[in-house]
Amino acid sequence: MQMRKIRDGVFWMGAIDWDRRLFDSLIPLPDGTSYNSYLIRGTEKTVLLDSVDPSMVETLLSQLNGVESLDYVVAHHAEQDHSGTIPVVLNKYPKAQVVCTPKCKGMLVDLLGISEEAFVTVEDGETLSLGDRTLEFVHTPWVHWPETLSSYLREDRILFSCDFFGSHIATTDLFATDEGRVYEAAKRYFAEIMMPFRKIIQKNLEKVTTKDIDLIAPSHGPLYDRPDFIVNAYLDWVSDEPRNVAVLPYVSMHGSTDKMVTHLIGALAQKGVTVHQFDLAVTDIGKLAITLVDAATIVIGAPTVHVGPHPLAAYAAFLANILRPKARFASVIGSYGWSTKVVEQIGGLIPNLKVELLEPVLCKGSPKAADFASLDRLAETIATKHKEHSLLSPHVLRLESC
Ligand code: FEO
Repeated sequence: MQMRKIRDGVFWMGAIDWDRRLFDSLIPLPDGTSYNSYLIRGTEKTVLLDSVDPSMVETLLSQLNGVESLDYVVAHHAEQDHSGTIPVVLNKYPKAQVVCTPKCKGMLVDLLGISEEAFVTVEDGETLSLGDRTLEFVHTPWVHWPETLSSYLREDRILFSCDFFGSHIATTDLFATDEGRVYEAAKRYFAEIMMPFRKIIQKNLEKVTTKDIDLIAPSHGPLYDRPDFIVNAYLDWVSDEPRNVAVLPYVSMHGSTDKMVTHLIGALAQKGVTVHQFDLAVTDIGKLAITLVDAATIVIGAPTVHVGPHPLAAYAAFLANILRPKARFASVIGSYGWSTKVVEQIGGLIPNLKVELLEPVLCKGSPKAADFASLDRLAETIATKHKEHSLLSPHVLRLESC
């Protein structure tokens, strides 16, 4: 892929990784991803914003073939999918300086062994003149590491946001034209990467939206030439109010917990609660993470294995705990053979969740009439709690203008 013009003197560079299927050896990438770099040619200075994943170094070097000199490389983020090729760029342009936050400098020295002399660090609000254009640096920490930075090209009103607003999606569309597809990919990205920092992202959103923005250019996925689209989505996702949604990750070994899950889901649906069911033996954890963005209630379906929860159920609880969704209520259901400590052990795995624990439903062996009645009572409790909190349906838009 060759470099592509965005505005006069502003170009997309980078690489589309169509076939990558896993990030951080954890996160599924069903639609691949991209590593976006940008080149800005000012009348006096030329700057490269971020690099690409080391696996794509040849693509970036080929795009740089026509770039005779480079004054600066802005490193918005130290994670290697954006910074990993900076040493190769510096090798090609030995006089170029790396511009980043003070915290990022330390991380790039540690991670990539870049010489301390190569850096210029910038404070929040500091500017860099490129001649006819001005880059303003906006510290946006914890999107999603502590050192993360955005930059704003004042004259063109472009916000370069790195991972912030990004989406793991491989596409030749430079802009987010298929907004339905991009919405799902961006929400997945938010859920897996950004959600643990929801509160600080609220502040970063306030900060960047004070700028007059025509275009948001993230480091993954297409650019947003309708910035309201992604800003409004983020305002919704980071809000403190969950939706009238229950999520039910479960696993079942011989069908008993499966019967309980099926019954509970039917009862919740009858009471107007939107429910998402995930069989942890086969599910894409990204899909589970997406539903955690909105869910008010998490019910974990966990059969007992050697007194504790099935390891896949423990994994789901651990995952929810590190993603820190805004859920208000949680419970546990499941079958056991002779004795169980499922509730205590799952409870111990979710200290980060600010949830009210609702009466669990555990049954010995296959569920019977009394167990189904208990599940009906749990459904009634969940529906009532959701009504008491006046939770919106997942399909009602909460739009604000940016
Ligand atoms: Fe796309 Fe946090 O790196």
